[in-house]
Amino acid sequence: MRAPTGRKLTVLAMATLVGVGAVMGIGSAVAGIKGSKHDLGSGGASQYAGTAGTGEVCVFCHTPHGANVNAKAPLWNKSLPNAGSYTRYSSLGTSTLDGAEVAVGSVSLACLSCHDGSQAMDVMVNAPGSGGYNASGASAFTLAAMTGSVLPNLGTDLSNDHPISIQYAGGGLTSAQADGTYTNTNFDDKDFKTVQKATFNGTPVWWVDNGDTVRQKTEMMLYTRTVGATTEPYVECASCHDPHNEVAQPVSFLRISNANSAVCLACHAK
Ligand code: HEC
Ligand code: HEC
Ligand code: HEC
Ligand code: HEC
Repeated sequence: MRAPTGRKLTVLAMATLVGVGAVMGIGSAVAGIKGSKHDLGSGGASQYAGTAGTGEVCVFCHTPHGANVNAKAPLWNKSLPNAGSYTRYSSLGTSTLDGAEVAVGSVSLACLSCHDGSQAMDVMVNAPGSGGYNASGASAFTLAAMTGSVLPNLGTDLSNDHPISIQYAGGGLTSAQADGTYTNTNFDDKDFKTVQKATFNGTPVWWVDNGDTVRQKTEMMLYTRTVGATTEPYVECASCHDPHNEVAQPVSFLRISNANSAVCLACHAK
């Protein structure tokens, strides 16, 4: 994650992470992905722990070379599921939903490349070792597709899940404040929290800030989608989840603890 000021985690946040790691008896200073449920290698804690023929951690999702450039997740090492195969939240027809759903995409499709149960979890574009490249992805070991419905295998019916690939602030943003930020006076739906914006390499990025205006992975990330001529922030799986953070709060891979519904209240002004 990049911060506009170049500042990384604050000293306080680092101290907190070190503290949590110590309480949980985690060896490393920052609770990361190694040994977690997202470590599908032989040292990991998923339901498939130990069955993969590698101790590598990152390779199940990332590769340094030959990555799948159709994915909007960095250096993605898996083939993507068919974006058109999902039943969407809007199919419920709640009378209050006013944001536009766009095609399931961005980082959500990368999550769903395991969490919809449609492909084996060891499908990789570039398997570990020399000569393991297969452009359309191939199973490198003997791992099955994800089991357990409706969780952790969400399946392709997403109507029972929080909306994803959905416009932030129900209907989107109108014009920004002079300083580039958006308050809820700029929202179609006033029930949402203020949004911060920055531009990196010509691409705008948005996030729901916790007050320090620095973009950190412990804030709710919004994902840039362009629909027609309009580029706006959208909510995706990784808005609420950080796939590398193993600290269970109450489940692993949340950006912040959901104690007192802090995740929900980060975006919803309720
Ligand atoms: C289970 C899948 C998964 C595994 C395993 C995984 N990542 Fe990621 N990683 C992701 C996804 C998804 C994103 C995009 C997150 C986002 O958009 O915020 C990402 C983003 C990143 C980023 C850029 C954003 C950031 O958070 O800094 C880096 C760097 C990264 N991963 C490194 C690693 C390394 C190094 C490993 C192994 C130690 C690893 N990842 C293992 C899924 C994974
Ligand atoms: C990253 C920002 C964000 C977070 C965090 C978040 N939401 Fe949402 N939520 C949204 C957006 C955007 C919508 C779509 C609203 C719309 O278009 O009307 C939405 C929709 C909903 C809806 C459906 C509303 C309807 O009209 O059908 C419910 C219910 C809801 N959220 C509850 C929650 C709960 C509970 C949590 C915490 C577990 C949560 N949200 C966390 C952004 C967020
Ligand atoms: C390479 C496959 C893979 C990818 C890609 C992946 N996951 Fe997972 N995820 C898993 C496995 C395996 C588990 C553990 C399932 C089990 O053991 O029951 C898991 C578990 C989880 C859990 C539950 C943690 C807990 O404490 O129970 C969450 C939350 C989660 N993943 C979110 C995500 C999100 C969000 C993304 C995308 C940013 C993502 N995952 C991408 C394989 C993956
Ligand atoms: C608006 C926020 C939000 C979004 C978007 C979101 N999640 Fe979650 N997710 C949560 C929260 C909060 C929990 C913890 C719920 C609990 O305590 O049971 C959770 C739990 C999970 C779990 C573990 C469930 C369990 O009880 O074992 C998985 C797996 C998961 N999410 C995957 C995903 C995937 C994949 C996506 C995208 C398709 C996604 N999430 C989108 C907020 C979100």
